[in-house]
Amino acid sequence: MKALVIHQFGGPEVLQLEDVALPMPGSGEVLVRVHAAGINPVDYKIRNGSLKFITGKKFPRILGGDVAGVVEQAGKKSPFKPGDKVFAMLSFKGGGYSEFVTVKEDHLCHIPESTSMKDAAATPLAALTALQAFRKGGDISEGDKVLINGASGGVGSFAVQIAKAMGAIVTAVSSTRNQDFVYSLGADRVIDYTREDFTKLPEKFHIVFDAVAKSSFWKCRHLLRKSGTYVTTVPNKALFWHAGLNFLRGKKATFIMAKPSGDDLAIIADWMMRGLVKPYIQQSFLLSEGAKAHELIETERVRGKIVFHVI
Ligand SMILES: NC(=O)c1ccc[n+]([C@@H]2O[C@H](COP(=O)([O-])OP(=O)(O)OC[C@H]3O[C@@H](n4cnc5c(N)ncnc54)[C@H](OP(=O)(O)O)[C@@H]3O)[C@@H](O)[C@H]2O)c1
Repeated sequence: MKALVIHQFGGPEVLQLEDVALPMPGSGEVLVRVHAAGINPVDYKIRNGSLKFITGKKFPRILGGDVAGVVEQAGKKSPFKPGDKVFAMLSFKGGGYSEFVTVKEDHLCHIPESTSMKDAAATPLAALTALQAFRKGGDISEGDKVLINGASGGVGSFAVQIAKAMGAIVTAVSSTRNQDFVYSLGADRVIDYTREDFTKLPEKFHIVFDAVAKSSFWKCRHLLRKSGTYVTTVPNKALFWHAGLNFLRGKKATFIMAKPSGDDLAIIADWMMRGLVKPYIQQSFLLSEGAKAHELIETERVRGKIVFHVI
């Protein structure tokens, strides 16, 4: 089978399309024929070695944490059968930039009827991050006020829709060029960060979700109501320091580390089926265009998501 492989850390050029052996599903796993694969910023961070303290230095390595495809092979007792259309966030070992991948059964979910393979591939990691971040923030009840920074990106664009699906009143933050896009996702109000400093807003929020990790707990603390929570996607030393002091104050600082979960994906699939959550794909690429796709994801300027069209 064909896969995009890296043999060393480096720039986008280290992604090589190669013939590799078909992976063999282990116990509790199914073999999926990949139709489309999501591309996320974590992929370039693994590729360039910035996450080697987590990933290790084992090569060759196939990147990719999101897939959508069709079950090729499943165990007799599996809840999935050959021919099922499925999507999943993969574990940290990746393997999604490929024609076939093995996936743990409890990471998989059936793709909603009306959802395309590309839309399904664009969804798991980013949408699960948003859903699990709101849970870490103490969950959202009808009428809660939520602020989402980086609302036009992969995580942010799902976060706006998921917060609305949960009944929140959403204030979103993006640049001028993405204002209309973020309104189209359902945000009640969009702040243009090139014209206004959102950390100076007078309102109080239940959750401030910094989907792009461009602000900080310290700057956002005035935005939080007494028991509000600041959740970021990329923790740094300051965040750990503030989180260590959470027990001393009502306002909390925390971060999300998204985990694969078929059950959580089923919640998202239900919202997709009901038209409450829909991915936006800026561009799709062939596996042979791996370097081009990574050059784009590294810009941090993608609107919504980008994906590989595999077959
Ligand atoms: N911890 C986890 O489990 C986890 C999971 C997923 C992602 N992440 C991390 O979270 C971050 C975001 O991921 P993503 O997939 O959403 O990234 P992304 O899709 O690449 O984000 C791109 C978007 O960010 C916006 N943006 C860039 N600078 C901004 C700023 N200063 N203020 C507000 N918006 C800004 C851009 O819009 P404009 O051009 O309008 O500014 C663009 O639409 C990445 O660092 C990723 O690695 C962590």
